[in-house]
Amino acid sequence: MSPRDDTDTEWDSTSYDGNHSFVFEYGEDVVDLLEPAPDERILDLGCGTGHLTDQIARSGADVVGLDASGEMLAEARERYPDREFVRADARDFSFEAEFDAVFSNAALHWIPDQDAVLDSVAASLRPGGRFVAELGGVGNVQSIVEAVRAAAGERGYDVDSPWYFPSVGEYATVLESTGFEVRYATLFDRPTELDGGVDGLTSWLEMFGDELFAEVPEAERADVIGAVEDRLRDEYFVDGTWVADYRRLRVVAVRPSEVGLVRETNRR
Ligand code: BEZ
Repeated sequence: MSPRDDTDTEWDSTSYDGNHSFVFEYGEDVVDLLEPAPDERILDLGCGTGHLTDQIARSGADVVGLDASGEMLAEARERYPDREFVRADARDFSFEAEFDAVFSNAALHWIPDQDAVLDSVAASLRPGGRFVAELGGVGNVQSIVEAVRAAAGERGYDVDSPWYFPSVGEYATVLESTGFEVRYATLFDRPTELDGGVDGLTSWLEMFGDELFAEVPEAERADVIGAVEDRLRDEYFVDGTWVADYRRLRVVAVRPSEVGLVRETNRR
């Protein structure tokens, strides 16, 4: 969920579990794609509050949850004291023992430097090990980002998206340049209902949109959010619920051989 430790974002784990539980509820489908087997050693990269780490572990696998947020990990450890959690940056981690699989749900789009992430993932997998991940794909929450850009822009503020939402081709290329063999990749729309009724969009922006509002002074944020709602209401407020235009990218890739060599070869 928060796999990078150089952002100013402070994660509110209570709000994450309360109003944004759809993040890990949808992630259960990605666990099905992982097909964890008893005794496999699996890394849950960007584990947040640990719900999916626990779900994977219930299959009998030996799971380690990794996240950069101390707040999220404190919640994970309290909820799941029998599970193992480690604080680390997804762009630079290593373990002594190799994993059979690395799993990640709704976390990697927070890290533009995906080369560094995939180098760490590849180095932590045994040859033949698999990487199973879902992240936001190209066009994800585009209407929200555009509405914030327009509303903030009218007041003279620039908005940079902090997220990395690749296409299938783009992500497959990064995976292959890291030495992975891509076995499965798909991009699909997943309109997502936001909890909180009339306040659902505000609550989502407060939880996830901090970096979008970096230039907007605190005192003006409520007005900008109101203007964002006005822009989106007709299309995205349906029967009392805000619906975000999520698009998901899902991949399964396998580490076939010596990763360092493959990346060196591809870079020449
Ligand atoms: C996502 O899961 O697609 C997402 C979550 C928060 C911010 C942006 C995207």
